[in-house]
Amino acid sequence: MKEKSLQQLYSLIINCRCPCPGERTGGLLVRDHGNPGKRIVFLGEAPGAEEVKQGMPFVGQAGRNLEGYLQLAGLERKDIFIVNTVKCRPTRNNGRANRKPGACEIKSCAHWLDEELAILSPGVIVTLGDVALKRLGGGKSRRISDCHGQPFKLERYTVFPMYHPAAAIYRRALTEVIEGDFKKLGNWLRG
Ligand code: URA
Repeated sequence: MKEKSLQQLYSLIINCRCPCPGERTGGLLVRDHGNPGKRIVFLGEAPGAEEVKQGMPFVGQAGRNLEGYLQLAGLERKDIFIVNTVKCRPTRNNGRANRKPGACEIKSCAHWLDEELAILSPGVIVTLGDVALKRLGGGKSRRISDCHGQPFKLERYTVFPMYHPAAAIYRRALTEVIEGDFKKLGNWLRG
């Protein structure tokens, strides 16, 4: 049932033409092929090159990092469903590099994510990085550096904010912080 509704939604997303400035790779669907019935949804930022190539979220370097961290929470990919805040891949240098999604892209994709979450109806949403946190009501009041690892209620969801798994690639010191948050997530889910 959820899968059918998701497929309908994704057939609309793939035809979306973004009105925002900036270059991007659109028209290629990146979606999780796991079980949409899971109660835990992970919310990323936007697909990267490898994700667009394979049509799956978190299959590049960030995905390998994520899988390692998931183990610390006692989770595997099959236990979660992954979605992204922005559906296309924001690029620069003629597609050679990723860029952070802009405010216009986040806003333009907002209704897609709202519809996706309405279908998935998770109990817990784990936000990966500041883009996902802000998008889900973090606003100006919640900064990832202050609230990572501390769940909060947002409407019918509980949001568990995390650093993005790629953050530790650029800031090595974050590795331990992220590892600690994933262990905490596991204990919290089991508790
Ligand atoms: N980073 C994200 O935020 N999403 C992906 O799908 C891949 C990398």
